[in-house]
Amino acid sequence: MSSMVIVTGGSGGLGRALLRTAPRPGLRVDVSRSGPPPEADRHLAADLSRPEDWASVGQALRTVIRDEPWDELVVVHAAGTIDPIGFAGEVDDEAYQRSVLIGASGQVLGHHVLGALGDRAGAAQLVMVSSGAGGSVYAGWTSYGAGKAALDHWVRNAGEEQRQGSGARVLSIAPGTVATAMQSAVRDADPEGFPRIDKFRSLHEEGELADPDEAARAMWRIIDDASHPSGAVLDVRDH
Ligand SMILES: NC(=O)c1ccc[n+]([C@@H]2O[C@H](COP(=O)([O-])OP(=O)(O)OC[C@H]3O[C@@H](n4cnc5c(N)ncnc54)[C@H](OP(=O)(O)O)[C@@H]3O)[C@@H](O)[C@H]2O)c1
Repeated sequence: MSSMVIVTGGSGGLGRALLRTAPRPGLRVDVSRSGPPPEADRHLAADLSRPEDWASVGQALRTVIRDEPWDELVVVHAAGTIDPIGFAGEVDDEAYQRSVLIGASGQVLGHHVLGALGDRAGAAQLVMVSSGAGGSVYAGWTSYGAGKAALDHWVRNAGEEQRQGSGARVLSIAPGTVATAMQSAVRDADPEGFPRIDKFRSLHEEGELADPDEAARAMWRIIDDASHPSGAVLDVRDH
């Protein structure tokens, strides 16, 4: 059995841990700016904050999905950024725009992935890495939270579409709070632009952040659990 795994943001943090802990053998593909990590067999270079690159990344994904032999495919969109942390109207214009665009890129990549599957769709899963911030209010995270909320709703709708036939399974999974570079950036934020910073500093001090491999394994358990229907929006902390 060949289990191909494609991870955007596979160069670091949770995405790299997902490549490292993928449960079955097969081709591993990273989509990022700084990759490939040693865990990947193949690297697609992409800056997902650049909409002018989305079509070529989408085509490269379609090619790898169509041309490679696989019995099972899992595509995880994990690329993301928490920058800039701070209030809308006060943070850097360009950084804010990049954050909004990275948030939106998952929808476009998801479109390309679903379009490449053809009659193998029933053996494919598309997973958006979400966040509790998609449903909870955090001043200082407007574009991050809104991007995750949009991804969650994209998953509900695309999941419904895929259920109409023998389509792919589309899921959203929030990984919990994970010890990655993103969490360091959260702790280092200016408290004026992120009033709830103490919550994240305390989680770190109390050793409450999940190890990336542990969080990735929890995600794989959800991905491998056939009871979750296409369109489900899930959180590892509930499973
Ligand atoms: N850590 C947490 O506590 C936590 C909690 C909830 C949700 N999440 C979600 O989990 C996912 C992974 O986050 P993480 O904590 O592992 O963060 P991370 O350590 O900062 O890693 C982010 C990944 O995204 C990629 N990335 C960032 N900007 C990109 C761009 N413009 N184009 C392409 N790739 C880009 C990075 O690769 P390059 O820099 O090589 O491009 C890197 O591989 C994100 O979607 C995040 O929202 C994390």
